[in-house]
Amino acid sequence: MALPEPSSTTAALVTGASSGIGADLARQLAARGHNVVLVARRPDRLEALAGELRDAHGVRAEALACDLTDPDATDALPGRIEALGLEVSVLINNAGYGSAGQFSDLDVQSEADMVRLNCEAVVRLSGAYVPKLIARDGGGAILVVASSAGMQPIPGQATYAASKAFALSFAEALHTELSHLDVAVSALCPGPVDTEFAARAGLADAFDGVPRFARVSSSDCAKAAIEGLEKNKRVVVPGLAIKGVTLSGRYTPRAVLLPLMKRFYPV
Ligand SMILES: NC(=O)c1ccc[n+]([C@@H]2O[C@H](COP(=O)([O-])OP(=O)(O)OC[C@H]3O[C@@H](n4cnc5c(N)ncnc54)[C@H](OP(=O)(O)O)[C@@H]3O)[C@@H](O)[C@H]2O)c1
Repeated sequence: MALPEPSSTTAALVTGASSGIGADLARQLAARGHNVVLVARRPDRLEALAGELRDAHGVRAEALACDLTDPDATDALPGRIEALGLEVSVLINNAGYGSAGQFSDLDVQSEADMVRLNCEAVVRLSGAYVPKLIARDGGGAILVVASSAGMQPIPGQATYAASKAFALSFAEALHTELSHLDVAVSALCPGPVDTEFAARAGLADAFDGVPRFARVSSSDCAKAAIEGLEKNKRVVVPGLAIKGVTLSGRYTPRAVLLPLMKRFYPV
């Protein structure tokens, strides 16, 4: 099992490609010769990256602005890509955002939109492409960008951690369903990565307090993700330090873990 071979008529669809991990995933897939379809809301950013990738790698790079919290817009994406004459062989479900604070203080609409983006859009796009990837000669690959936050509940990030637990569980189940059908599925579970994520989530101060050795760059994170997907790893955790943290988050009994998190978590 490997990533599908690039070809002139196939493409990797990368959501959340206007910044951070998604932009680096698109860069590294284009460097391997994959055409890319770049999706996010900010068209200027997408057009700039598409131009960069065409110039650097001679691939087709298409920018499609889309708000993935809108189910109709999400469902319309596969038709827009087909109209470009491109077949998706690699689906990168990366777009996402988080929030921080006591749930009772947070904006409920934004929390619900987060679930639409981090969970529902992943299901809608996977639903559109899984049957096609199973059917295609040469197989397919799906990356679901979850998070180390999905390994356990997090008081102070209740919705975000739950949304990433969903993403992780969904990806692990799809991995198991599809492995024998030549479709690789990996969940990417990074710890802190320096992108626009922390500022948007209101976690910039918390991220600043994380020691350097526990952080990975966006490009190292993307590299680990693509190498993991290439090997059809079920779960990819970039960086040794975070591997330890995720293991304890995943396997420590909740009755022990949650009071500790309530006491020490920096929100
Ligand atoms: N950075 C971290 O520490 C970290 C750790 C673990 C997991 N993650 C996960 O990694 C993924 C990528 O995040 P990042 O760190 O690269 O953060 P980022 O730099 O903020 O990138 C987020 C991407 O999602 C897109 N996006 C946000 N809302 C959207 C919407 N409604 N429709 C379409 N696209 C939307 C953004 O583009 P527009 O604003 O242009 O729409 C942007 O391209 C997320 O799923 C995040 O949860 C991040």
